[in-house]
Amino acid sequence: MFRTYTCGELRISDVNKQVTLTGWVQRSRKMGGMTFIDLRDRYGITQLVFNEESNAELCERANKLGREFVIQVTGTVNERFSKNANISTGEIEIIVSELNVLNASATPPFTIEDNTDGGDDIRMKYRYLDLRRNAVRSNLELRHKMTIEVRKYLDELGFLEVETPILIGSTPEGARDFVVPSRMNPGQFYALPQSPQLFKQLLMVSGFDRYFQIAKCFRDEDLRADRQPEFTQIDCEMSFVEQEDVISTFEGMAKHLFRTIRGIELTEPFKRMPWSEAMRLYGSDKPDIRFGMEFVELMDILKGHGFPVFDEAAYVGGICAEGAASYTRKQLDALTEFVKKPQIGAKGMVYARVEADGSVKSSVDKFYTQEVLQQMKEAFGAKPGDLILILSGPDAMKTRKQLNELRLEMGSQLGLRDKNTFACLWVVDFPLFEWDEEKQRFMAMHHPFTSPKPEDIHLLDSDTGAVRANAYDMVINGVEVGGGSIRIHDSQLQNKMFELLGFTPERAQEQFGFLMDAFKYGAPPHGGLAYGLDRWVSLFAGLDSIRDCIAFPKNNSGRDVMSDAPAALDPSQLEELNLIVDIKE
Ligand code: AMO
Repeated sequence: MFRTYTCGELRISDVNKQVTLTGWVQRSRKMGGMTFIDLRDRYGITQLVFNEESNAELCERANKLGREFVIQVTGTVNERFSKNANISTGEIEIIVSELNVLNASATPPFTIEDNTDGGDDIRMKYRYLDLRRNAVRSNLELRHKMTIEVRKYLDELGFLEVETPILIGSTPEGARDFVVPSRMNPGQFYALPQSPQLFKQLLMVSGFDRYFQIAKCFRDEDLRADRQPEFTQIDCEMSFVEQEDVISTFEGMAKHLFRTIRGIELTEPFKRMPWSEAMRLYGSDKPDIRFGMEFVELMDILKGHGFPVFDEAAYVGGICAEGAASYTRKQLDALTEFVKKPQIGAKGMVYARVEADGSVKSSVDKFYTQEVLQQMKEAFGAKPGDLILILSGPDAMKTRKQLNELRLEMGSQLGLRDKNTFACLWVVDFPLFEWDEEKQRFMAMHHPFTSPKPEDIHLLDSDTGAVRANAYDMVINGVEVGGGSIRIHDSQLQNKMFELLGFTPERAQEQFGFLMDAFKYGAPPHGGLAYGLDRWVSLFAGLDSIRDCIAFPKNNSGRDVMSDAPAALDPSQLEELNLIVDIKE
């Protein structure tokens, strides 16, 4: 037997036992005639003791062990003189009598400890070493526990786990596809699935009724902290359901995860907010409602007083930061710089402080009387000590999005976005379409299979942009953790949808013919949802990036720096695939 215990297992009750442990040398210290080694494995750290006086030869061999050597030791459990309350084995140590080096290690490029000295890049290059660290390993353990709980919850409700293919046809709606050339079919390509959407709908036609899959999805889009080119969905679909059934099933799953993973009992139904309200009050379809600071529109109050910036704007609106009137000029200038960053794009920011006597002092005082400023104060319900921040612009939607960034920044600065507070929200009633300026056509906001709200169907031709969808997103702390919809199951309505999206009947047939054909053979009413597993795990672990809960993630340029992918292909492989690479400068 290689080991009788793991490095996280032994306690004071095990004193005097003869044990064998295996693991990695985390570090060693020499003190007088004693050598202490921290032996680490996935389960914890156990202190080993080598005594020069009782076994000089063994102690000398221990002194030669380097960091990350893999060793096996046998010895006796002993009560520690100076105990370490920070680790579970901190009351004991092993007086070693036998040492066996199982494998040597080169000096690691960074220290494998909680507070490592390794920067991001080096840790990504040596990810297999980074994964030995508690912080990263515990994120993967959490991920494992969550998938187990997801499976338990769905299995209990009769969902069947079905795998759908990874090599599929390209459907260039939404994000870009990753494509794979086919050697056996020269000049033809597979695509990797952006989600199992079409297949899960086909499974409903097949009568599977309740499907789920922990599914790898692939999207060739710009990366951010909450986006990876390959990520994992908890993908589900149900037959004979309405929006309310899907929402209650997956709100139930969310509550199950909160309870079993975080020990948080959420008894109240989750808040719901129509998309239009989310945009009006927060400038975002995924508002962080851990804090208020809702937008107040000021067009009526502040336009027409001779301040050209506001007079010419289509939107003037602001937020009120409670108790922030003490912000210094320097802090306000920094906020102005923040909103002017190219990623945000505002032209400037106006501020107003509510003074102790209730009067309002603003950065545009010369254009406004105190009376108008008081009206503005009333509109916010602002009190002495509050700070009002205002943005304006020619495009209402864009300005709201800028104000959203400012609101989130203020929320962070004022400590209102605590990682251990969770605010769950369903955003509902999304528009079915959004207008794409570049392509000069409507695009599906969710995907082309989402059904319109029955009461809006009559608007499909006359007021396409106003049609609302039977679609819903779950948002937690400003993160979109999932989304879904009730689907179209009627081929006529689906054809109408393709027409409105600018597909010719031929192109619709070419890309989605198999789905349209399937719909001819008795498609049940159906709908579903997909949760982003990576986002759920990072939310529960309090991570800033989903990268930290993925074993082998890609960096911001979509590269795996460890295995150096993507990489050029060998010319013989290109030839076999009938590919010619012609890179345009
Ligand atoms: P959607 O595109 O909204 O819906 O995706 C569902 C959820 O997946 C997560 N997600 C991502 N996570 C990490 N990196 C990414 N690049 C990424 N993209 C999306 C989000 C998101 O809410 N087929 C539909 C679902 C349905 O209608 O049933 C779909 O894929 O948490």
